[in-house]
Amino acid sequence: MIEDAAHSSTGKITGLMARFGMIRGSRRLHPPYSAPIIAALYPPPLSDFFPAMLFQLDSLKIEALAALESLSDEAALEAFRIDYLGKKGKLTAVSAGMRDVPVDLKKEVGAKLNDVRDAITGGLASRLEALQAAKDAAAVAGIDITLPGRPGQGAGSLHPLTQIRDLAVRTLRRMGFTLADGPEIETEWHCFDALNTPADHPARNESDTFYMPDGKLLRTHTSTVQIRTMESAKALPVRIIAPGAAYRRDEIDATHLSVFNQIEALYVDVDVSLADLKGTLEFFFREVFGPNTVVRFRPHFFPFTEPSFEIDVKLEAKGKEARWIEIAGCGMVDPAVFAEISKKRGDSLFDPDKVTGFAFGMGLDRLAMIMHGISDIRHLIENDVRFLQQF
Ligand code: PHE
Repeated sequence: MIEDAAHSSTGKITGLMARFGMIRGSRRLHPPYSAPIIAALYPPPLSDFFPAMLFQLDSLKIEALAALESLSDEAALEAFRIDYLGKKGKLTAVSAGMRDVPVDLKKEVGAKLNDVRDAITGGLASRLEALQAAKDAAAVAGIDITLPGRPGQGAGSLHPLTQIRDLAVRTLRRMGFTLADGPEIETEWHCFDALNTPADHPARNESDTFYMPDGKLLRTHTSTVQIRTMESAKALPVRIIAPGAAYRRDEIDATHLSVFNQIEALYVDVDVSLADLKGTLEFFFREVFGPNTVVRFRPHFFPFTEPSFEIDVKLEAKGKEARWIEIAGCGMVDPAVFAEISKKRGDSLFDPDKVTGFAFGMGLDRLAMIMHGISDIRHLIENDVRFLQQF
């Protein structure tokens, strides 16, 4: 070991020692290390064993810590670690001398060994840390890390459908409507029978509706929530809105999806009139499309309202002739619906001779398309960020 080390700086010292006969395990003292000098260097308790190993350890520590200072990259530090602390490293080699240390000195030499190992390990760790810190500092050099962040791509925004739904809900809530809800998997009764829709109505066709094996179905409109609300209402007036999904077995194309979104409204009290319906919807569409929006009520048929209307809004695109666009269905609640509800409830809260009401429903997807000039409904479900970023 001493021969090996003869070329390193420890080697110079251990080489000297070797020349003076102070090899590992030697118990004899040779000049120039007189007993008083040794005693001064290593105060008692000191046996007559010459602690060559203590000397080697001290030398190794000084050498290693000095060597560390000059290392400036991680690869060099790793080479250093292997050189000193590795299985075949210098410290390991020195510590092999432990077996020759007399029993009464083992404790002292062992403590020194640990101290030197800790010093080298600690020195290496703080050198690595310093290198890392320098690297980090170089990476942000010239960047003002105290500047606030830029609103980045990741922030995102609400989906146009969500925006429209929120606008519709906000507007109707201002008029005293409250939110209501119902299941998307419905009974035929809630979807059709209670809404005065006879068994032979085309909307009930297998080819138009998604039926479950147990006879339930995916609701084809949010009008089911009218029924659910009246079934459980405690008092009048009933004034609700219900946004939600609806399902139809439509061929998917630019204007149809098999899952789409509607918003439903129902207002029932003792004296609700067609004028209330008209005023509510005119106000609503002016809020959504602007104060000059013109709305027209065109007679239509729905099984659950009488009279019934389709609502068109007049839209004027720049440089084009104004167009009427069909946007919603509405009407006065058919007394037959109140009669069916009363039968189900077994009371007279919705007595068809006492109460009147209006209902309307419209497609939110369609509203979004008209509002933003979207030509294909499928854009709304494809989640292409290039499309979504526009809203
Ligand atoms: N539920 C009807 C539809 O989906 C719309 C509607 C709702 C009509 C309420 C009248 C009253 O087409």
